[in-house]
Amino acid sequence: MVRDFLDFNDLTMAQWDRIFNLADDIYENPAKYADHCKNKILATLFYEPSTRTQLSFQSAMLKLGGSVIGFSGVGGSSVSKGESLKDTIKIVSGYADIIAIRHPKAGSAFAASLYASVPVINAGDGVHLHPTQTLLDLFTIGKYKNKKFTGLNIGICGDLLNGRTVHSLLRAFSMYRGNNFYLISNPDFKVPEKYLKALQTGNQIFTCEAIDECIDGLDIIYMTRLQKERLVSLDGVPFETAGYDMNLILDHTKLAKAKSDLMILHPLPKNNEIEASIDDDERALYFKQAELGVYIRMALLIILLENNTNRTSAEIQREEAEIRCENPNCILNDDDDTSNLPLLVNVNAGDACAYCEVEA
Ligand code: NCD
Repeated sequence: MVRDFLDFNDLTMAQWDRIFNLADDIYENPAKYADHCKNKILATLFYEPSTRTQLSFQSAMLKLGGSVIGFSGVGGSSVSKGESLKDTIKIVSGYADIIAIRHPKAGSAFAASLYASVPVINAGDGVHLHPTQTLLDLFTIGKYKNKKFTGLNIGICGDLLNGRTVHSLLRAFSMYRGNNFYLISNPDFKVPEKYLKALQTGNQIFTCEAIDECIDGLDIIYMTRLQKERLVSLDGVPFETAGYDMNLILDHTKLAKAKSDLMILHPLPKNNEIEASIDDDERALYFKQAELGVYIRMALLIILLENNTNRTSAEIQREEAEIRCENPNCILNDDDDTSNLPLLVNVNAGDACAYCEVEA
């Protein structure tokens, strides 16, 4: 098992299964685990807003008998006084046994893992990845599809460019074969190619601009909101023209054409991309999906805390780079303090920066 949980695909499928099976057991027998993390402390360092991820991590640790410290927004922490990521992580490593971090820069969780002496969990790093959301997405799909992750027609709709939950989910699905993906978005909001490369082997990928083009055949539709907070910093995409059109909103008329066992998923929070009354449809599983997040995060905390590995497997596969990453949203370009981070490339992804995966 890796020390940190940064990218879902750092784990082998046997390790995914171990987490899923443990989460199943915790879900069935929660009392058995009530003291499992007694005397352990989780630090939740949330530099960006969160309801579900932060509270479900906290709830997970409390249900395991442990304790929680942390901050929610940088306003109440020394980050607002100019403290660097490095200093914060070094300090918190002395206060907690495990850290869950959410940060606006891509690669920030990986950077934190290089500074930390305790395991680090990526709870969302900018527009990059959100692997614990993928854990709960797959856990939910497994529960409703009898653990069958092949032969599915999967629609993914919304802001596929900036949605980190989409990036992580597609990458995870590249480990399976025989699925059809319908990527439904405005042409300006398509999935970056790098998240599709591995998925192309053994799966079919279709691009759509309207839910109506594919809703009738789908087994799953994964809805996402427009990531408005990312657009302000996105060069060349004026916010006003980047809106949704009706073709990307799931309403009753479109849902009437769908299968009776369609799973409607959403990482939440949702805005207007799902008509509000659909919440009452039995196919709307997003609230259940969020609830299951507690059990899967309990399983993850148990497994990472019981393991004594010192390095991440991901780190071992990285090599020194000569060129500095130019992506302004990469942690390498965050502030002067991160200029001490090693310059690394991802060996498995050509010359891509190992932090944000943008090609040099
Ligand atoms: C997602 C995120 O933060 O990326 N939320 C979550 O963690 N459940 C999705 C989003 O904010 O749209």
